Amino acid sequence: MKGIVFTEFTEMIENEFGLSMLDEIIETSNLPSKGIYTSVGTYSHHEMVIMLTKFSELTKIPIHEALRMFGSWLFNSFFNQYPDFFNHTQHVFGFLESVEHHIHVEVLKLYPDAQLPHFICTQIDQKTFLMEYHSDKHMEWLAVGLIEGALKQFNETGEVKIVDSPDPSKGCLIQIKLQ
Ligand code: HEM
Repeated sequence: MKGIVFTEFTEMIENEFGLSMLDEIIETSNLPSKGIYTSVGTYSHHEMVIMLTKFSELTKIPIHEALRMFGSWLFNSFFNQYPDFFNHTQHVFGFLESVEHHIHVEVLKLYPDAQLPHFICTQIDQKTFLMEYHSDKHMEWLAVGLIEGALKQFNETGEVKIVDSPDPSKGCLIQIKLQ
């Protein structure tokens, strides 16, 4: 997993929960990297799982909520760091559609060893959009937070939820319903 995900995660904890919380997580997690990350480095996905679990224990925030919160944070940070990725479309559904075919493609040029999820998108009607999430990382709640961040950025309100997939082999189904 790319270092930018770790540098952003640790920055979110420091900003929102304080440096002592971050120190406690790192000191008690016995991480191979010792909590020292660079954005271009690559680290085991397992380190993220360990830190999330520790964070959840200390704050009593369930792991899926922590991932979702982090997704929103990460979206804002991507938006500030890579403004050009967001110029291509005016509508949030167009943007979500572009994650698979434009944004993550550009990400791979910047970070050739990035391990990215795949999305199959279907617009149901003007207000409803489905994203089939495929990844062995099971970070669908991160995707939910990222999508919620996108809705805010595009000045939309609505609900993002994981819905039962009629066919589980098709991955996890995320539904976005605009108000
Ligand atoms: C709503 C929009 C987006 C969604 C739903 C999304 C979804 C995800 C998810 C769920 C992951 C975790 C890996 C996995 O599950 O397999 C991921 C990784 C990543 N995404 Fe996206 N993403 C979005 C937008 C972006 C943007 C705008 C950027 C950069 C400008 C970006 C860059 C990355 C990077 C660098 C990784 C880490 C890859 C790695 O660890 O190897 N994503 N994305």
